[in-house]
Amino acid sequence: MKAIRMVATLVVTAALIVPASIAVAGDALDVGYPEGYRDWTHVKSMVIFSDKHPLFGAFGGIHHVYANDMATKALKAKKPLPSGSAIVFDLLEISESSGAYVEGARKFVAVMEYNDKYKKSSGWGWQVFAGDTKDAQLGTLADQVACATCHEEVKSAQFVFSEWRK
Ligand code: HEC
Repeated sequence: MKAIRMVATLVVTAALIVPASIAVAGDALDVGYPEGYRDWTHVKSMVIFSDKHPLFGAFGGIHHVYANDMATKALKAKKPLPSGSAIVFDLLEISESSGAYVEGARKFVAVMEYNDKYKKSSGWGWQVFAGDTKDAQLGTLADQVACATCHEEVKSAQFVFSEWRK
């Protein structure tokens, strides 16, 4: 009886982890370090500075969003992002100094790469690189699903929250 309940729980949990709408393929973990992204186009920045924000724990600090040329053109034109588009979320510590918020050490570089080869995961591959390293942090599909699940909130915008402003 206990065993049956456990199996039932596992099945339900698995269903929650992998929603039918976002089946994630293994190769989506192949996303490489976004070499040269500091020369890409800056899209926007945001400071998350207190736990009044729900994402403070994971994303507290200052982040800058960069898009490669393909992604920039599409974001500007409000057109679908083509295969080869990549967007970076560059998160740095912040501290207060004489009435200013100043940047500190890099916490991580998160990357979303849109590519036909990731068609099983709605076209997106996800990865996170710790600090100033090129050490990939996402090693399992569940990690990727966690990214995709939250970004699914903006599925109508191809999973991308950031919009181009003038
Ligand atoms: C709980 C929700 C949530 C989770 C989980 C999440 N993100 Fe995001 N992500 C956001 C939000 C909100 C933004 C927009 C930030 C802004 O407006 O500056 C964002 C922005 C981004 C961007 C810039 C492009 C865009 O959509 O604006 C990248 C790249 C990114 N996230 C990667 C990741 C990766 C990789 C993971 C998984 C490790 C992840 N995210 C997990 C909420 C989330």
